Amino acid sequence: MRLKDKVAIITGAGSGIGAASAILFAQEGAKVAVVDMNLKGAEEVAQEIKAKGGKAIALKANIASTDEVDKMAEIVLKEFGTIDILVNNAGTNEFVPFPVLQEADVAKVMDINFMGSFRCVKAVLPTMTEKMYGKIINITSVMSVIAGKGQNAYNASKGALKMLTQGMAYDLASYNINVNAVGPGMTRTGLTKNLFANPDRVKWFEEKIPLGRLGTPEDIAPAILFLASDESSYITGQTIFVDGGMVATR
Ligand SMILES: NC(=O)c1ccc[n+]([C@@H]2O[C@H](COP(=O)([O-])OP(=O)(O)OC[C@H]3O[C@@H](n4cnc5c(N)ncnc54)[C@H](O)[C@@H]3O)[C@@H](O)[C@H]2O)c1
Repeated sequence: MRLKDKVAIITGAGSGIGAASAILFAQEGAKVAVVDMNLKGAEEVAQEIKAKGGKAIALKANIASTDEVDKMAEIVLKEFGTIDILVNNAGTNEFVPFPVLQEADVAKVMDINFMGSFRCVKAVLPTMTEKMYGKIINITSVMSVIAGKGQNAYNASKGALKMLTQGMAYDLASYNINVNAVGPGMTRTGLTKNLFANPDRVKWFEEKIPLGRLGTPEDIAPAILFLASDESSYITGQTIFVDGGMVATR
């Protein structure tokens, strides 16, 4: 019970890495707000948690909307009384290479991956600063430090989120708020379903991963749990790459 009675918000928790984290957090005693713009996915995950005896609510919010994010935080406060943990996991990707890449492509990815995380942080900070306690975990990517072909917008959004993690860790340390990032490697989820539908592509990636295989959401979630727990109370501003060793070879 490493998160006993802690209240956690996990965005993008209706699928993939967020869903695996929500299920693991609940197993460890947290009350989990399963947030996603896909309400059906969020409801299925919350239902699975409750069926196993855990506590969860499913909430629909698009992190591209400040109003929806603020309302989401209000509902969590009303339902669970406080907010201890925020996992900024909702994210998107578009493969658009230069010179085709347009301003609108970049704006869309930045608005979700970077500004969406910023909006969620702003919504939970009044509670966290007042109680002088908080854990914020931003889900970045190996792509925050490795350039991918046709991934300029994604690279920029995740690189910016990595630096926001470091800057927020500095600013919020005096409030006893830890801010860290988890950078997943190549992981089989809804986001990468099309990419990994091609066996040649899978082989190409596996050759670049020292552990020789793609990751699963269940490989990533334990690192998020560690950074959400008090076991990591002297760690802030860091990124843990959970990538089978991919970044280490660059
Ligand atoms: N899968 C990978 O290989 C990989 C690698 C590195 C980083 N990541 C990051 O991990 C995070 C989770 O992705 P995943 O791979 O589990 O993908 P996923 O598609 O399985 O899950 C992402 C979830 O986020 C939700 N979402 C997307 N945009 C949203 C928005 N604007 N508001 C609210 N919810 C929104 C989707 O509905 C979906 O349920 C993302 O930030 C992604 O960039 C994934």
